[in-house]
Formats: sequence, C-alpha cells, structure tokens
Amino acid sequence: MTTKSEKQVSANPMVSSPNKLKLGVFALNAHGGTAITMAPEVHLADDWPRSAAIVRAADQAGFEAMIPIGRWRGFGGESNFGGTSFETYTWAAGVAAITDQIACVTTSHVPTVHPLMAAKQATTIDHISNGRFGLNIICGWFGPEMRMFGGKMMDHDDRYDYADEWIRIMQKAWTHKGYFDYKTDHFNLEQAFSEPKPLNRPFLINAGGSPRGMRFCAQHCDSAFIILGSHEPGAVAAQIKKYKDLARNEFGRDLKVWCYSYVSVAETLSDARKYVDRYVTEFGDDEACANIIKELGIQTGVMTLEQAENFRYHFKGGWAGFPLVGTAEMIVEHMEMLSDAGMDGVCLSWLDYKAGMEVWNAEIMPLLETAGLRVPYASRSLSVAA
Ligand SMILES: Cc1cc2nc3c(=O)[nH]c(=O)nc-3n(C[C@H](O)[C@H](O)[C@H](O)COP(=O)(O)O)c2cc1C
Repeated sequence: MTTKSEKQVSANPMVSSPNKLKLGVFALNAHGGTAITMAPEVHLADDWPRSAAIVRAADQAGFEAMIPIGRWRGFGGESNFGGTSFETYTWAAGVAAITDQIACVTTSHVPTVHPLMAAKQATTIDHISNGRFGLNIICGWFGPEMRMFGGKMMDHDDRYDYADEWIRIMQKAWTHKGYFDYKTDHFNLEQAFSEPKPLNRPFLINAGGSPRGMRFCAQHCDSAFIILGSHEPGAVAAQIKKYKDLARNEFGRDLKVWCYSYVSVAETLSDARKYVDRYVTEFGDDEACANIIKELGIQTGVMTLEQAENFRYHFKGGWAGFPLVGTAEMIVEHMEMLSDAGMDGVCLSWLDYKAGMEVWNAEIMPLLETAGLRVPYASRSLSVAA
C-alpha cells in the first residue's frame, strides 16, 4: 500500500511503540474534555494555539495518541458541556501538521460522513502525518446530535450494520487500484475512485460495549476503547480478556484494548481528591450529567442511592473513566494494575490539560519508566509552551 519507500514513512506509534503501556490524550478538542463542570479553569476548546501547545507537549513527551471526541452539540445544563468543539478530521490534520511522532486520530460518527469522503480525508491526514493516522469509529447514540444530520437515528444494531458497510467501503477505497462499484443496503457507489492510497494501513478503533458493538470492533478494528465496568483488578482483567478472546477466537485477530482516565495528582491522596471534589461537587453540572445518563440509557434507578450518587460523581469527574487520583506513586500503581490486567493503553484527560500535562510529564513519566511500563523517550520536553 505504501507509495513511498518504507524508510521514509513513519510507523504509527499505536502499533510500533516499544512501551508496554501506551498513552494518549483524550477529548482535547471539546469543551470540558471529559469533565462535566463549570469550574473556572475548565477546558474551553475554542482556542487552537492553546490546544496546539498541549498537542506539541504530548508529542514531545512521547505520548502515542491524540484522540479527539466526536461531538456536534452540547448536553445542556448551565455549562452546555461539549457544546463547543473542533471538528475531528480537520483537527487531526492540524495535529498532523504540527507533530513528529504521535498518532493523529480522528473520531468519526459514521452517519455524518460518506465513506468515500471519509476515506479520502483519512488518506490526506495520513499523508500530512507521514503515516500516523488513526480512526475511531463511532456509530452515534446521542439522539439530538444525530437528528441534526437528517432527522432520525437508526436503531442500535442497525447502526453497526451501517458501520460495517461504511468501513468496508473505506477499506476498499484505501486499497483498490482504479475504479470500483459498491452496492450495499445503504450505499450505491458507481465507479468509485480514491487516490492516493494511505501510506500506512490506518489504525482502527471502536468503543463498542454492547454484544453487537463488541463483535463489530473485534471483526474490524485494531483496538477497543472501553469504559471499565469495575475497577477491581480481577474484573478489569476479565473484561479485557473477554474482548481479546472474542477477537482471537471468532475472527483470528489480535485486538488491543485501551481505556480512558481522568487525572488528579497531588502530594497526598486527600489533596488529589479535594481537587476533584471541588470541580465535581462545587462546580459540577448536574443537569448536563443527567441528560447524558438519560440519553445513554443508563438506568441509575436500578442502583442504590449511594451507588447512583457515586456513579454521577465519577461521570462528572471524567465521563466515568478510570480515576487516576492520588500521589504520583499511587498513579503509577494504578497504571501497573491496568497493565497487568492486559490493558495496552490509557488515554488521559484533565480538568486543566496544560497544567495536568506539565505535572504528568515531569512527575509521572519518569516513574512509569522506572516501573518498566515505558522506556525513556529521548527528546522528552517538560514544558507546555504558551
Ligand atoms: C472510550 C470511549 C470513547 C467514546 N467516544 C465517543 C465519542 O467521541 N463520541 C460519541 O458520540 N460517543 C463516544 N463514545 C460513546 C459510544 O459511542 C457509545 O457509548 C456507544 O453506544 C458504545 O457502543 P455500544 O452501544 O456498542 O455499547 C465513547 C465511548 C467510550 C467507551
């Protein structure tokens, strides 16, 4: 598939990185990142130079992936969490242009873009990044958001059938020389054509959690991007094994598994918790959080009041990601647990990405290296240039 000699093309670090536990940055393109809060330092996502500085810092610290969130409208409440966001293909192209080694991922809601168009955009980003493109495939679950694009939203499993056709067309466009016809239930391509080809086969990701979603991911993708059902080590390992076994046993494929986390590091566990408490309890946007939970169909009514309250707290803290909250040493212990459980990568988000990235690179990265989870990254830079 390569059009340049292999030597000239970068490897995608999501595949080639030597690190046992890979790292990404999640949701930097959208208001709030993953934190559902009105805290004054919340990420606003309307300032490219500020975002670009954080992107460059992640690249220079050896992070493997920059993964944006696919978002088209906010979730209401006073914050209208997620309402302001940069579009993800053009975002990834911008990331590609200003970085050297990090994977430039786009997150694509399949019903919002024709697969031939998406294939061409993906190829373009792959060329701008010299082979570092990745695609996070999202089917769409937030009704008002999907109805903006045509007044309706498909039923759950139909969305995956549609995504199945969509990704097959993209793959055809990425590999087929010359013209091709392609007719499926949803598409009818006559004499389709797409040149040039990507430099590397694009790295595919999906966050399917339902049985149908997991099958889709196991069949087509290189990595699953999961929400952990429990943080108990045995349960984490079982959840990862189930996904990897499905890919191996049903489709003969080696699937990687990544999760996402929100981060708060301090001198003591109590201070790290206080930091989260402040933006969740004092400034959290309960209405936006309730809207998401309702739309996702999460039945907090079936939990005890205490469980439901914990769940909402955790959701406002970082979209119910794995909480990396504590001292630097505690965070490394959590990361060791995740790695031992079979996790291949963790995508991070912070209330304040700039400050959070600086602390991470200065304090956590060296400890991850000492713990054997990562190798020293030669040109690591500690600061986030303004
Ligand atoms: C790690 C992760 C990342 C996600 N990123 C997005 C996103 O960027 N945009 C979006 O609309 N939904 C996103 N989702 C939500 C999923 O698309 C949604 O939960 C979907 O319904 C999961 O598939 P399932 O129905 O098979 O469980 C994400 C979910 C997870 C777990």
